[in-house]
Amino acid sequence: MTVVASAPQAALDTAMIRQDFPILQRRIHGARLVYFDNAATTQKPQAVIDRLQRYYRDENANVHRGVHTLSVEATGAYDAARERVRAFVNAADAREIVFVRGATEAINLVAASYGRAHIGSGDEVVVSEMEHHSNIVPWQMLCEEKGARLRVAPITDAGELQLEAFAQLLGPRTRMVAVAHVSNALGTINPVEEIVRLAHQRGIPVLVDGAQAVAHMPVNVQALGCDFYVFSGHKVLGPTGIGILYGRAALLDAMPPYQGGGDMIRSVTFERTTYNDLPNKFEAGTPNIAGAVGLAAALEYLTSLDLERVAAHERDLLGYGTAALAEIDGLRLTGTAARKAAILAFVMRDVHPHDIGTILDREGVAIRAGHHCCQPLMARLGVPATARASLALYNTREEIDALVAALHTVRKVFA
Ligand SMILES: Cc1ncc(COP(=O)(O)O)c(C=O)c1O
Repeated sequence: MTVVASAPQAALDTAMIRQDFPILQRRIHGARLVYFDNAATTQKPQAVIDRLQRYYRDENANVHRGVHTLSVEATGAYDAARERVRAFVNAADAREIVFVRGATEAINLVAASYGRAHIGSGDEVVVSEMEHHSNIVPWQMLCEEKGARLRVAPITDAGELQLEAFAQLLGPRTRMVAVAHVSNALGTINPVEEIVRLAHQRGIPVLVDGAQAVAHMPVNVQALGCDFYVFSGHKVLGPTGIGILYGRAALLDAMPPYQGGGDMIRSVTFERTTYNDLPNKFEAGTPNIAGAVGLAAALEYLTSLDLERVAAHERDLLGYGTAALAEIDGLRLTGTAARKAAILAFVMRDVHPHDIGTILDREGVAIRAGHHCCQPLMARLGVPATARASLALYNTREEIDALVAALHTVRKVFA
């Protein structure tokens, strides 16, 4: 009998992958760039840069309105990009994929359209303490307009959602739950399936902010069971100015349009306008066509590498980095959840995070320092700001060593 052992998962070939990202060859202040600001935006592979160039060089035309060849080709590329996104998040239907500017616009769209139609005086929206401002402020604005109430699910000191307290917040007036899949400031991976289960038991829809998830783990919106899922192209190796709103077709269908203009209409008279079908109903005006095809190229690139392998590589870096940072005198990690993405956020005794960021930059190490658009979370943690190294598929253990060496320099400067 032949026993076929399952092949061990091949590790990512980061040396090869790094060749695909021209910017990683740059030197900063004479040192090799170590790019650890991936939660703010990821770098772009040559395949995306080439795709954008090819679109503008060979295919540029407006979509949907032309019968000439270029317009037909641009429309085909735009539609194919939508299908690529659908497959990437495993949505049931390409009509459930709406192109927007980014995660922020997607959340604003849902708050303005679904929210205005379904949330009224005395109703409640539940978010968590770890949300990005983009997943707080649109709901807060809606609540102010409608006389509704924003309720906030607490987190533990480690940065994990307190699920029982979250469940207790869900009541007869809760009309929406909006939570991050992965926290940009802590790295915490939230138990989205469980959150959805608890909310759906009470008939409450769930929006998941996937801005920090999609580049780092496979995402399957049908398996998650969420009603809305949003992300930004630029955080998943794609261009800026393009993002995705996934919404279940039945919900999107019933929602009023977000903006009025071209493409979102079926017919217009001065008396009355009727609206287009999904997804066009939510895409008023000329869309970011180049952004969409560039995003499709990014997703194709990422898919070819296999997101399970990407996740395994980043888990290895997270473990290595967590252990290495623990050795630095006076450094404390903020965000130590059991399920974490590769985000190393920290504070150092007697050193402001901005000073850490500035000294690290001199050594070529790009991190972010500040509140990370999470001021309420900073208040919860009792710090004005943190330093954050956020990792991606092209990062290496050697780069973590460079971060650690630079942090020792910080320690010396402030000794
Ligand atoms: C968790 C999270 N949500 C939303 C956003 C907003 O993304 P964008 O600025 O691309 O709209 C970010 C950006 O940092 C984020 O990290």
